[in-house]
Amino acid sequence: MQNFKPINFPQGFLWGAATSSHQVEGENFNDWSKWEKSQKRIKFLESKGLIKKYGLENFISGKATDHYHRFSDDFQLAKKLGHNATRFSIEWSRIEPEAGYFNEKEIEHYKEVIAVLKELKIEPFVTLWHFTLPVWLSDKGGWLNKDTPNYFARYAEKIVTALGNSVDFWITINEPEVYASNSYLVGAWPPQKKNLISYLCVLKHLIQAHKKTYQIIKKINPQFQVGIAKNNIYFEPYKNKLINRFIKKIIDWWWNFYVLDQINNYQDFIGLNYYFHLCFNYFLNKNKNKNVSDLGQELDPGSIYFALKELKHFNKPIYITENGLADANDQKRSWFIFEALKGIKKAIDENINVRGYFHWSLLDNFEWNKGFWPRFGLVEVDYQTLERKIRHSAQFYQDVCLLNGISEDIFNRYQKLLQT
Ligand code: FCB
Repeated sequence: MQNFKPINFPQGFLWGAATSSHQVEGENFNDWSKWEKSQKRIKFLESKGLIKKYGLENFISGKATDHYHRFSDDFQLAKKLGHNATRFSIEWSRIEPEAGYFNEKEIEHYKEVIAVLKELKIEPFVTLWHFTLPVWLSDKGGWLNKDTPNYFARYAEKIVTALGNSVDFWITINEPEVYASNSYLVGAWPPQKKNLISYLCVLKHLIQAHKKTYQIIKKINPQFQVGIAKNNIYFEPYKNKLINRFIKKIIDWWWNFYVLDQINNYQDFIGLNYYFHLCFNYFLNKNKNKNVSDLGQELDPGSIYFALKELKHFNKPIYITENGLADANDQKRSWFIFEALKGIKKAIDENINVRGYFHWSLLDNFEWNKGFWPRFGLVEVDYQTLERKIRHSAQFYQDVCLLNGISEDIFNRYQKLLQT
């Protein structure tokens, strides 16, 4: 048997998983659910042969995992799996289905969600916006509209006031640059624009929305901890060539740091969503690692260490708000988590203030324009029966969460799963 040096995490480290409303709740009515059924979208899927390959139902969020009704069972499962924290999002379109009209019943729903979490002693991290908009707002131009930061701040104020007694951690916006680029530059997500100016405008409005909301939340309670969930990539300059190091400065500045610099005085912690490492030569992808996820994306979980190191100068507490992979057979997930945790621990040992880890995701879910086939869950969902089935990796992660570390015994028990 291999020798293994036990890993211990700091006391009070938060362990959990993340979800977002549109991806798990089911029966949402928002810009995405409308887009999923639009003729333009269906024609596109047809033209690419994707309906033939996966079936139309793959691309329509529909009842998703029905988490909206099953949240209590799902969070009891999370508790059983050793989690002491969870990240979930509020569906704006439920709370404010018409401009300025707030649905108290839906606010009540999220109060119940939080009550269940509190009862289970699971710390809630609440995301206020995770990619979906009420239809009335997308009809007004969504994030392109200069008033949208104000609409967002109004909605946020309502929610934070209503739920504030039991929530300490707030994430205003999920992955601003991922959203802005997919929706306004690449044209892959609704409203499928491909326009540089629109992209920049949307990013600007997302930043404004965050800043405004930060101030509002702090006014409601200065103790609240507020941040965003930021997708950062570890860009590795191929052969450490001078030219590549220079390019790295530019792409780091734009993708990794621009938003964080803009909001530096308006956030209490950094939420890091980490998925990608990219080794590049000029503008060519030089990733040598052939280990990929079901989505064909390179897996290099240990490189989270470098992404964390690059955040050190912000001098803020860091929570890993997402990290995961599509792995339907669960062949790589335990190894992936293990390697990521080793990287995180290495960063902690170098005085980087990482305080929690949320795996993406608790449940299999609706992966945006890809639909249901990519399986990101610690827990498998049967989309016919909606039955939940715990994956082996969830059990490995459970042992880690409960111990707050990885012992030799855990390592030995999971040796097979930890090799890839
Ligand atoms: C992130 C998103 C999340 C999920 C994962 C796989 O970019 O925030 O909703 O789709 O990717």
